[in-house]
Amino acid sequence: MAGMPPTLSQFIRARQQDYPDAVGEFSQVMSAIALGGKLISREINLAGLVGATGYTGRTNIQGEEVAKLDEWSNDLLVDLLGETGCVCVMGSEEVEGPIVPPESASNGRYAVLFDPVDGSSNIDIAAPVGTIFSIQRRATESGVGNLDDLLQPGRSQAAAGYILYGSSTMFVYTTGQGVHAFTLDPTMGEFHLTTEELRFPEKSNVYSTNEGNSGTWLEPDLKWVNWIKQNDPDTGRPYSARYIGALVADFHRILLKGGIFAYPGNTGRPDGKLRLLYECSPMAFIAEQAGGAATNGTKRILDIEPTGLHQRTPYYIGTAREVELIGRFHEGRGPG
Ligand code: AHG
Ligand code: MN
Ligand code: MN
Repeated sequence: MAGMPPTLSQFIRARQQDYPDAVGEFSQVMSAIALGGKLISREINLAGLVGATGYTGRTNIQGEEVAKLDEWSNDLLVDLLGETGCVCVMGSEEVEGPIVPPESASNGRYAVLFDPVDGSSNIDIAAPVGTIFSIQRRATESGVGNLDDLLQPGRSQAAAGYILYGSSTMFVYTTGQGVHAFTLDPTMGEFHLTTEELRFPEKSNVYSTNEGNSGTWLEPDLKWVNWIKQNDPDTGRPYSARYIGALVADFHRILLKGGIFAYPGNTGRPDGKLRLLYECSPMAFIAEQAGGAATNGTKRILDIEPTGLHQRTPYYIGTAREVELIGRFHEGRGPG
């Protein structure tokens, strides 16, 4: 199409040489997620009009209230991915154990993990939310997949991405060959390429964290947050604070504008709040591919060997310089 940037599916087809062993199946998985994103985007845009706001009255495995849109989006992604026949098992924030597609369709080569709606408490106030996904090659040989396919370290992801439902709907993903961003044209129902090879900017003195929790933070995080708030223009301090309360939206801003997002552990919850497999690992893959970093304070997120589907981890993600700085505090070395 002359003058039009490629659509997501055209772009994936054009990049088939990046994954020669599994072209067709991979594109089908990505198409299912993209279609899910368009349907979720529409539902969110209409929210109050179609009764998509509010809560179901149930709590999930995390003990958190389930928003109506959490449940609707979870069921949608399970159906769309399941019917591709390319997925052997799925893991979702909203479901306790592995989810297997109908038996006839469960011999696919991929395992997919997702957070159907990230930041779901933002829906009722028309603020940004997102969807996060992680695609792993199956670890088991064949047939129906199981937990072994889901409990793989982040470094082995075949692809990861997120959809941001903000003032625009954006689809951002990586297969380990850079990070690419697409914008939804809702009149066409298509995602079009808007940035190829997205990289973090150099500028970085912005921090994004729920500092209201700092009364229960541990010493390294307290020292860090006090340091970045001191007035020292030569080192870019004080930093500016920005916090939307949806990881996808907070991370997207940092990817484009620079800075760091932190969700530390605390005295009550040493592993913090965010979940390794369907929140932290996929975003970490994107961050590294964009020239940034993600750790739990001392260790690379992508190297953590998972032990549970819903395990949590302290989380620091952003420009390499900022993630290195917080690491210095965790190693007791100070800002240096
Ligand atoms: P979810 O809606 O999928 O449960 O995730 C919400 C997460 C994350 O997106 C956000 O960064 C964090 O929770 C906000 O938590 P606080 O309200 O504790 O700041
Ligand atoms: Mn989430
Ligand atoms: Mn969620």
